[in-house]
Amino acid sequence: MMGSKETEPRRYLVPIDTASTQQLFTDCLVIGTGIAGLRATIQAAQNCGVTLVCKGSLADSNTWNAQGGIASVLADDDSFADHIADTLATGCGICDREVVELVVKQGPCLIRQLTDWGTEFDMAGDQIDITVEGGHSHARIAHAQGDSTGRVIAEALMRKVKQKPNINVIENFFVIDIITDENECVGAIGCNRAGEFQVIWAASTILATGGAGRLYRETTNPEAATADGIAIAYRAGAVVRDMEFMQFHPTTLYIAGASRALITETLRGEGAMLLDSENNRFMTDYHKAAELAPRDVVSRAILDRMLKTGSTHVYLDIRHFDKKHFARRFPVISELCESFDIDVSKELIPVRPSAHYMIGGVKTDSEGATSIRNLYACGEVASTGLHGANRLGSNSLLEGLVFGKIAGKLASGHPKAGANHLKHRRIRCDIALSDRSRLDADDVRNSLRALMWRNVGITRKAQPLAEAQEIIDFWQRYVMDKVFDSAYGWECQNMLTVCLLMAQAAEKRVESRGVHYREDFPETDDKNFANHIELTRSLQA
Ligand code: FUM
Repeated sequence: MMGSKETEPRRYLVPIDTASTQQLFTDCLVIGTGIAGLRATIQAAQNCGVTLVCKGSLADSNTWNAQGGIASVLADDDSFADHIADTLATGCGICDREVVELVVKQGPCLIRQLTDWGTEFDMAGDQIDITVEGGHSHARIAHAQGDSTGRVIAEALMRKVKQKPNINVIENFFVIDIITDENECVGAIGCNRAGEFQVIWAASTILATGGAGRLYRETTNPEAATADGIAIAYRAGAVVRDMEFMQFHPTTLYIAGASRALITETLRGEGAMLLDSENNRFMTDYHKAAELAPRDVVSRAILDRMLKTGSTHVYLDIRHFDKKHFARRFPVISELCESFDIDVSKELIPVRPSAHYMIGGVKTDSEGATSIRNLYACGEVASTGLHGANRLGSNSLLEGLVFGKIAGKLASGHPKAGANHLKHRRIRCDIALSDRSRLDADDVRNSLRALMWRNVGITRKAQPLAEAQEIIDFWQRYVMDKVFDSAYGWECQNMLTVCLLMAQAAEKRVESRGVHYREDFPETDDKNFANHIELTRSLQA
């Protein structure tokens, strides 16, 4: 555990006096509307009232954008043992085996339940159609409307949420902090659509706030992915871990001026090849699985080819695909390419790697409980131990589904008394206002994202990691003492907090493992590092 007083954020980002703030009371508060938050909400609502909040609209999540699919054992020639073995092998020695077994074994049943709830997966005859991604020894990726899997699943879950009268959905509610009283979570303070502060008292709270891709200049993630949940939990004293493990996706559309967009790995699973700018297929030189090597290997190989050819990107070649089949199987990518006048039957798709999935996060046990009482976490914000040092593609929607259900069940199990017992609590925290008229949060955010890409990116080494911490520390000195009044500023503070944790953890892991590659320590060091790096806020700060 580490944490230093100088660089620690203060406990709350805004002054709080619960007695003079609008108040809501709920049995269970769920924060975030990706697959984990929606699944947790549905489960919790079987036992108690739920308030589900999200900072944008219901659809603003990584889940909504997920293309490839959801991994599970669905074929007769596949087995739990093989899915478990693939997950453990990809995780490079630090997966939690108990969690891997739990998630893999619940997969088929929860996917069947999704279909019962109206998710229409693509079918091959009367079986769910499955495809393959890197690291999977069998085809086991279920998909829906081709490359719209996340959206189709989320829509089905949203319909279910809307049918339940005891679920109160509040969109455009930015949770600024969870409120704690002696290491017990009692709810959250946030800002509603009208710009008013509100306290939501809750007998239990589930963080399902998603990922952190927006901490990097290059990312597949939507704007919402600013790591808020990790920062919120860290400020409250929760243990966070594995913060050095950011997974980079090898193939993001790279067209200068266009927003980056994911080009699903299942395309490579179905035969797409990677070519460098000199038209050479290169992955065969780097790994025996070629284009289906683990993502970290493909990402580094692409960087290497970019460097050697002096190019800003490489290409995906699908010219050999049947054009009509491609448009049917990958409608999102087909439309995307068309919108940039790329005729995929004749032309190559320019791609390069970008930040994709945050493996680390708020540490939970195998029931989704964090180190703070009555606070649970599930989905990308959580570190359950499923992924170890590298995530197997499409295991994350599965994890969100399984841990959403588990956390929802546990969180709704004990608040039989609802939040009534919290009615007489009063939490106060005074913070002096400091002038922020000269501060350009936009500039800080952009500079931070560029710094992370340069210094805490696909390959790392000691000096740039140390430099990143010094720079973030300097920016923190004049950003973290400010009190903002909008999500943009709070997000900036959250981003600074989490970026520092990532750089600290990356510096501490003096070896290479999974997605964390140290140029100065390229070997895996099982003797000293076959474990997790945990960080927790220094309580004096
Ligand atoms: O390439 C993809 O479709 C991504 C899948 C995943 O990250 O799980």
